[in-house]
Amino acid sequence: MKLRSLLFVPADSERKFAKASGIGADALILDLEDSVAPPRKALAREMVKSLLSGPARNWAFLVRINPLGSGLTLADLAAVIRPGLDGILIPKINGMQDIELISNYVDALEIAAGVRPGHVKLLVVATETPAAMVGFAGYANPSRRLVAMTWGAEDLGAALGALSNKEPNGDWTFPYQVARAQCLFAAGAAGVQALDTVYVDFSDREGLAESCRIARRDGFVGRVAIHPDQIATINECFTPSEADLAHARRVVAAFAAQPNAGTLGIDGKMYDMPHLIAAKRALASVGEDVAS
Ligand code: COA
Ligand code: MG
Repeated sequence: MKLRSLLFVPADSERKFAKASGIGADALILDLEDSVAPPRKALAREMVKSLLSGPARNWAFLVRINPLGSGLTLADLAAVIRPGLDGILIPKINGMQDIELISNYVDALEIAAGVRPGHVKLLVVATETPAAMVGFAGYANPSRRLVAMTWGAEDLGAALGALSNKEPNGDWTFPYQVARAQCLFAAGAAGVQALDTVYVDFSDREGLAESCRIARRDGFVGRVAIHPDQIATINECFTPSEADLAHARRVVAAFAAQPNAGTLGIDGKMYDMPHLIAAKRALASVGEDVAS
């Protein structure tokens, strides 16, 4: 499941679902959690159920469930694990043990729904509780269902009693820089995709583009979005440019031409194994398979 852009759609809004369906997001995340008010949770579940039985689609159909401890998790899972669902986004996890617990529920519910065992993937929001921030051990040996990890600053800040998570210039304050970096490291340890968090000012395209550039620089491979207008910017940023690909092909070709070289010079700069790995990763991300 390749994920550059993932658009949150409140699950109680058929209008927004219709709007979101053809706009080029790699995934839609139908949200049962914070964007749906408590009196509408049951209705939202029923809507997801009926949308899942819709026609085949060329994007991944994901659902964000309510977190463990909300009292809603099992009913959410029982409603949405059915043919058509590709993955579950779990918010407010405290660590690997929560992922294993949900994965065990999904094992049983897939069988009950006639879904191929293992088809439903898991994505997590890895930094929304203080307990999660001190519980990153275990990601080096992840659940086989886990495919991606993202992070969140709002719920963590609320749990900590922070007055703000941003500096006056818009940068994350230090605690949230730590959360963002921990998400990157945990995803790296688990070998899953790291996805940057939402950019809430959906009218600021230039700000989003710059923030995505920084995310890609740091190792994120995609981003969650809250508004359809953000998708094109995110897709563009997380797709390597022709110049990036040409450079990657050059690096791969240079090493292929000198199989005994661990390091070599290109245009007056040193290249070694990390550069070769990065070049191969860029090519693999657009489906160019390079023998390793
Ligand atoms: N998915 C699908 N359609 C969306 C959308 C989304 N996430 N966000 C906005 N739209 C639609 C609107 O319904 C509107 O369509 P319409 O003209 O047919 O009514 C159009 O895009 C333009 O929307 P706009 O007026 O710019 O924004 P808004 O004020 O209607 O909505 C939000 C703003 C924040 C409420 C909305 O973007 C939203 O619901 N985002 C997702 C929130 C969410 O899921 N949060 C949880 C994760 S943090
Ligand atoms: Mg939240």
